[in-house]
Amino acid sequence: MHSFISVLLLAGTVVTAFVHPGALHTIKDFQRITKHVADGNEPWNTTWTLLTSSSYAQSSYKPNPQTIVYRGNNGANSENYSYLYRDAAAAYQLAIRWKITNDKSYADASVNILDSWAATITGIDGTSDKFLASGLYGYQLANAAELLRNYSGWSETNKTATANMLKNVFATMNNLFLEDHNGQDYYHYYANWDLCNLASLIAIGIFTDNKTMFENAVNYVKTGPSNGALPVFSIANFTEPGSGKVLMQGQEAGRDQGHATLDFALWGVVAQQAYNQGVDLFATYKNEILNGAEYVSKYNVGYDVPYTPYLSYQGNQTVISNSSRGTIRPGFELLSAHYGQLKGLHSSWTDAYRNWVNINSTSGVEGGGGNYGPNSGGFDALGFGTLLYRLS
Ligand SMILES: *[C@@H]1O[C@H](CO)[C@@H](O)[C@H](O)[C@H]1NC(C)=O
Ligand SMILES: *[C@@H]1O[C@H](CO)[C@@H](O)[C@H](O)[C@H]1NC(C)=O
Ligand SMILES: *[C@@H]1O[C@H](CO)[C@@H](O)[C@H](O)[C@H]1NC(C)=O
Ligand SMILES: *[C@@H]1O[C@H](CO)[C@@H](O)[C@H](O)[C@H]1NC(C)=O
Ligand SMILES: *[C@@H]1O[C@H](CO)[C@@H](O)[C@H](O)[C@H]1NC(C)=O
Ligand SMILES: *[C@@H]1O[C@H](CO)[C@@H](O)[C@H](O)[C@H]1NC(C)=O
Ligand SMILES: *[C@@H]1O[C@H](CO)[C@@H](O)[C@H](O)[C@H]1NC(C)=O
Ligand SMILES: *[C@@H]1O[C@H](CO)[C@@H](O)[C@H](O)[C@H]1NC(C)=O
Ligand SMILES: *[C@@H]1O[C@H](CO)[C@@H](O)[C@H](O)[C@H]1NC(C)=O
Repeated sequence: MHSFISVLLLAGTVVTAFVHPGALHTIKDFQRITKHVADGNEPWNTTWTLLTSSSYAQSSYKPNPQTIVYRGNNGANSENYSYLYRDAAAAYQLAIRWKITNDKSYADASVNILDSWAATITGIDGTSDKFLASGLYGYQLANAAELLRNYSGWSETNKTATANMLKNVFATMNNLFLEDHNGQDYYHYYANWDLCNLASLIAIGIFTDNKTMFENAVNYVKTGPSNGALPVFSIANFTEPGSGKVLMQGQEAGRDQGHATLDFALWGVVAQQAYNQGVDLFATYKNEILNGAEYVSKYNVGYDVPYTPYLSYQGNQTVISNSSRGTIRPGFELLSAHYGQLKGLHSSWTDAYRNWVNINSTSGVEGGGGNYGPNSGGFDALGFGTLLYRLS
């Protein structure tokens, strides 16, 4: 399947050469996507129309790079990270638009966003929330860069400047968080903190051809010590009566459903990026990510699920949290496409939650940055999954 790669799973994961583009999307994906767009097939066409009408996907888009990005109000500095999440969404949407149309004006606008940030940013600060910024916007910028990496209009000097920004500003903080957890013990930070930083390292590892970075992150997912490692993330398995399916309670189920669903949007990114390099984290631990997606999806579309008390750092979470139950969280198109459509596995709850999100979205399909409100939560996912991942 991946002819350029060999994977050894004995003493860890060894990737011998990277496939490009190969973070969230491959050449084969764009062949499928461009055909659907050209043929005007639904629901791809509607999603494409949503993307092309996004204010973040216009060639006139101008970035607002900041020297220091602040996320979390630390009293000394006000927050300005919205500039970064808007520009990261734009860099990605424009790069996608270039890939599908081959119109250079979109690639140029996307390159300009990356170049101007690379020439400006020196650090990310704020409260502990700075480590959410390093993770979320690290994986997003690296995905834009990976899509553009063979664009002939991107000078080698400036491509290197973006690689240096991703490595020196983002990956440095990603590694720091995974090693030190902002000075807290392993169980203090909920899973989404690890997950966005892992997604970032995997994406930056791919873009910068850094095997060590990629393998460290993948091995952390498999056997790491904290909440973003699959073995720690799994709180309980239940067999669903009737279907016999395993439903897995994830680490944030007792916290709130906004974060419980965010975890799976991020698991999708982590696993998709690794999968495109021949490492199947989707299948790891008996499809743990699917089993967890089924659990969180079933609960969020309105059905009760069993629950095991979880001792969080905030105390004993004795019942599943109904806070923001039914939340509208993009990102589940990817999971449905991979498990249900590509692998033919039983993903009916994940499909139901994907549909729930779509029905409650602007155009009845999964949108992206800008389609889910102006706040940071609306920019956690790159989105447009109905266009980019759906196979049938
Ligand atoms: C860049 O990659 C795309 C596939 O994503 C391919 O169609 C195109 O030919 C490549 N362009 C160059 C200049 O290599
Ligand atoms: C695609 O969607 C647009 C916008 O809704 C519509 O105008 C167009 O006719 C659609 N294309 C096809 C082939 O149906
Ligand atoms: C970014 O945050 C810093 C610190 O609060 C501030 O000095 C700077 O003006 C901010 N940038 C913008 C565009 O708000
Ligand atoms: C490289 O990036 C800088 C900073 O944005 C920009 O001023 C310059 O024009 C870019 N160079 C090329 C060749 O695109
Ligand atoms: C590759 O990644 C590792 C781990 O993050 C880092 O220590 C190393 O400096 C990186 N190598 C290069 C050439 O950037
Ligand atoms: C749930 O099942 C998976 C797959 O067998 C396993 O790896 C994981 O440890 C289980 N979780 C718990 C809490 O037992
Ligand atoms: C958490 O609460 C449950 C349900 O009340 C109880 O059975 C369990 O012993 C508690 N766990 C801890 C560590 O206090
Ligand atoms: C939500 O959970 C709380 C705490 O368990 C409970 O008191 C409340 O009745 C629940 N609300 C709904 C609508 O189920
Ligand atoms: C989302 O869609 C479902 C199914 O149509 C509906 O029951 C629910 O109320 C909607 N939720 C929100 C937040 O709009």
